[in-house]
Amino acid sequence: MLDSNTSSAALALRTTSPWRVWIWGSVALAVLSALMLLSQPDADGARRLVRVTARLSLPLFLLAFVASACWRWWPGTLSAALMLHRRQVGLLFATSHACHAVGILCLWIWAEPALWSHLTPLLSRWIGGAGYVAVVLMAATSFDPAVQWMGRARWVLLHRLCAYVIWTVFVLSCLKRVGAAPVYALPLVLLLGAMLLRVWPQRSAAPLSQRL
Ligand code: HEM
Repeated sequence: MLDSNTSSAALALRTTSPWRVWIWGSVALAVLSALMLLSQPDADGARRLVRVTARLSLPLFLLAFVASACWRWWPGTLSAALMLHRRQVGLLFATSHACHAVGILCLWIWAEPALWSHLTPLLSRWIGGAGYVAVVLMAATSFDPAVQWMGRARWVLLHRLCAYVIWTVFVLSCLKRVGAAPVYALPLVLLLGAMLLRVWPQRSAAPLSQRL
């Protein structure tokens, strides 16, 4: 059970609008992307935006990915806050990836065809494209009416599958760079750790609503 301080903190979090996280985060991401493109409107500027948005997307994805596992392992104020906001964090990841797509579009327009082909080989386009299908499916169904329309079991299955597809795209994107830049081992470790946290067998926690 949560102690009274934790409960009141979590209740306070529940009464403030969680949508603010998504709305203000999205505004910040849109402004950042526009400024980056305006300050360097060429292929290098587009590449910079693509990389920055990929790097911002990773922690947002990981937070949404591990939210319920964190709640199961360490029920408390922080994990309760993450659970209450995980839909907004997930949608913020989708916004960040929309900015990744804007960067990709600008790269396609501004880069020489040879550079475009070098940076996005056909296999990467298919894998990344599958990732985007998963992002769109998750974002489009991240609302209560979608859960009611699909039924809880099918909704959970869809979101689990899509999350695993996106996780795989991140892993492959980092794996293909780790040989040239060992620093990509860090996101790989985080991704593997997050997956372990999710799949490691553990007692099931009481629903959040019963804890508050
Ligand atoms: C869910 C789908 C996707 C994910 C999770 C993803 C993730 C990533 C990651 C982690 C990086 C490495 C960033 C860095 O260097 O630190 C990256 C870079 C890149 N992505 Fe994506 N990506 C996705 C979809 C796509 C698609 C569909 C394309 C294009 C067809 C694409 C084009 C690129 C390019 C060109 C770079 C490298 C930019 C550079 O090094 O200059 N991505 N992406």
